[in-house]
Amino acid sequence: MNIKQVILKAFHDHPGEFISGEELSQTCGCSRTAVWKHIEELRKDGYEFEAVRKSGYRLLIAPDRLSAAEITAGLDTKRIGQQVIAHDEVVSTQPLAQEAAARGAKEGTLVLAELQTGGKGRLGRPWHSPKGTGIWMSLIIRPAIPLPKTPQMTLLTAVSVARTIREETGLPVKIKWPNDIFIGDKKVCGILTELNAESDRVNYLVIGIGINANSVEEDFPQDLAKIATSLRIESGQSLKRASFIQQFCRFFEEEYDYYLENGFGRVKQEWEAHSYTIGRWVNVQTISQRLEGRAIALDDEGVLMVEDQAGVVHKVYSADVNY
Ligand code: BTN
Repeated sequence: MNIKQVILKAFHDHPGEFISGEELSQTCGCSRTAVWKHIEELRKDGYEFEAVRKSGYRLLIAPDRLSAAEITAGLDTKRIGQQVIAHDEVVSTQPLAQEAAARGAKEGTLVLAELQTGGKGRLGRPWHSPKGTGIWMSLIIRPAIPLPKTPQMTLLTAVSVARTIREETGLPVKIKWPNDIFIGDKKVCGILTELNAESDRVNYLVIGIGINANSVEEDFPQDLAKIATSLRIESGQSLKRASFIQQFCRFFEEEYDYYLENGFGRVKQEWEAHSYTIGRWVNVQTISQRLEGRAIALDDEGVLMVEDQAGVVHKVYSADVNY
C-alpha cells in the first residue's frame, strides 16, 4: 500500500472521526509534513477533509471515483481486488487485463476504467461504456481447474454480482443464462469471460464485468433504453461504486474459495434460485444449431438443459438464448 492508500484506510477504519497528524504520520511511517502533502493531493482528487488544530483531520466526502486507493482502502479480502489498475479512459479493459495477466499480474487483479471508448460485449457486440456512470472492470483469475469447467467461472461471477446487487440495493435481480443480470425485463449487467490456456491447462481467465450503475435514462442511446436499465434508475438512488466493488470482491472471493474446495454445487444452487431462464420457453442459437424448447435446469457442470417439444433434452454449452 502506498501512503495515500494507508491514509484512506485509516479514515475508512474510523468513519466520521478525527485522526491527528501525529497518529497518521505514525501509521504511515512518514513525517507530518508528508502526511499534509498527501492530504492535499487527496483534496485535488476530490476528497474533502475538515482540519482542526489539535484534533487533526476528518474525512467529510469521498468522491465517487474509481481509484486504486479508494477500492483497496479497508478491503479485507486475501487476493480479489488487492491489486487495482485504474484508468480514466481506455478502449477496453479486457486487452489491458490480458496484457497484465500475460506479464504475470497476480490473481485477483482488477483493471478498471471510468470510460471505455470500445467496450466489448459477447459475440463481438459493442458494450456502451459512458464516462463515470458505470462499473467497467476486468478481473484476472488463475483457477487450477480443467478447461471444460471454465464456463462455471462465468456462472460464479454472475451469482456474485447478483448477490452484491441484492445486498447493496435490495433490488430483485435475476440471472439470464449464461451471464446477463436482469431487473424486470431489462439488462443491468453483462459478463464477458476470456480464456488463455495451453493444451489442458488454464493460464488465466479475464472476466469482464459491465454494470450500469449510475446511468440515467438519457445516458442510453434509444435502442438500448428499451432493453437496458441501471441500478440508479431502478432504485432511485445513486450508488457508491467503490463500496459496491469492494462488496463484490468479498462475495466473489468467498464463492470462489468455496468452489475451489468443494466444487460447483453451491454456485449451481444459487444460480438456479435466481434464474430468469429456468422454466422459460427459449430459442437457442448455437454456432451449428437452432433449437426451441423449455430451459429445465443446469446440469452438474453448469451446462443449460433444454427440453424440446418431442421431450428430447439438449445440452447447451455456448449459445445466444432468446425468449
Ligand atoms: C455482454 O453482456 O455482452 C458482456 C459485456 C461485458 C462488458 C465488460 S465492461 C468491462 C469489460 N471490458 C469490456 O470491453 N467488456 C467488459
